[in-house]
Amino acid sequence: MSDYGTDRQRDVYLAGAAGETPEVPPVYEKLRDAAREEMSQKAYGYVEGGAGSEDTTRENREAFRRWRLVPDLMNDVSERDLSTTVLGDELDVPFLLAPVGVLSIVHDGAESAVARAASSVNVPFVLSTVSSDSMEEVAEEMGEYTPRWFQLYPSSDPELNRSLLRRAEESGYSAVVVTVDTPLLGWRERDIENAYLPFLDAEGLANYFADPVFRGSLDDPPGENEFAAVRRFIDVFSDATLTPETVSEIVDMTDLPVVVKGVLKPENARSAVEAGADGVVVSNHGGRQVDGAVGALDSLPRVTEELPEDATVLFDSGVRRGADALKALALGADAVMLGRPYVYGLGLNGEDGVREVVKNFRADLDLTLGLTGCASVDGIDDALLRESPRYR
Ligand code: FNR
Repeated sequence: MSDYGTDRQRDVYLAGAAGETPEVPPVYEKLRDAAREEMSQKAYGYVEGGAGSEDTTRENREAFRRWRLVPDLMNDVSERDLSTTVLGDELDVPFLLAPVGVLSIVHDGAESAVARAASSVNVPFVLSTVSSDSMEEVAEEMGEYTPRWFQLYPSSDPELNRSLLRRAEESGYSAVVVTVDTPLLGWRERDIENAYLPFLDAEGLANYFADPVFRGSLDDPPGENEFAAVRRFIDVFSDATLTPETVSEIVDMTDLPVVVKGVLKPENARSAVEAGADGVVVSNHGGRQVDGAVGALDSLPRVTEELPEDATVLFDSGVRRGADALKALALGADAVMLGRPYVYGLGLNGEDGVREVVKNFRADLDLTLGLTGCASVDGIDDALLRESPRYR
């Protein structure tokens, strides 16, 4: 049982009575703006930017507004249970921290700081392939208790994929998220304007530079010839030939459960599951890949309808507050992933900033859940929702 919401309210209001207000803004938009002040202009552009006109990034938010919650009152919600099981992992809360690469450009503490924050509140962390700290370093920070998953960008070198997956298994990651929406990098106008790609500064390449297969493909170790190592990364980073067959090969390379991330089209979700994946992440990468793509939440019910009951469905892209998570759960997601909000927490205040963002989000979700009449995650279904007449 959890009391995340009322505990948090009590802590904040008591501190307020003693004259203290929160250092990390609880209002997402203020958090983003405060973090911006702490970040370089290029780093902020990289995090905030979407593909093209950023129409999809905006549409992700609009998609939430189309669904309204209809509270079901006079239920006993004095005891609430936010726990759930996803891919065999028992989670205290139905959300995870999404894989976000190159966090060293946001804060020196990078993924290690996120890992410490995540484990301190027992919220799982999905580590990106393009992280600034290696998966072994992050594993060390997280300890044994809190689940950690590894996100794989399928490389054009299958042996590198195999090696990364083996390392993830050996360092205690319990699931693999295979991102399939990045066979090419989207056209991101802010980054083009800044002529900025952090990987060229050798940021975000820790997993590659530590990898025996990657190192074996170089004439000199990355420490001796960084330029050649970065060039090799550019050559192998993505696999534009990726098909369901590639997913099938990756599934065969690991004993860990696999979900395929970046799916919007129901038929693609089905192909992923037929290729052997345990499920999908409905996501448009926070609007960073295809300008004009459908809002991720609009795809969610269509995808859940297409898949067998036992398939795992996760969701991200535009989740900012508790109500957003609740709507996605009501539309069939087993859990959601939080992206930019925790990155801005990191940018503003490092490990503490991430922890504060997570605590606020968790409290908001707990209270919104209770206030709509649900005492547990299992009790959430689409009876909670109505389509807004404004969008019909
Ligand atoms: C991402 N995302 C991402 N996804 C992934 O599979 N691997 C990665 O390395 C990254 N890197 C990354 C960097 C940055 C700066 C952002 C903002 C996002 C996508 C991420 O996992 C998630 O899908 C989005 O962040 C969801 O959108 P919102 O909710 O953050 O807007």
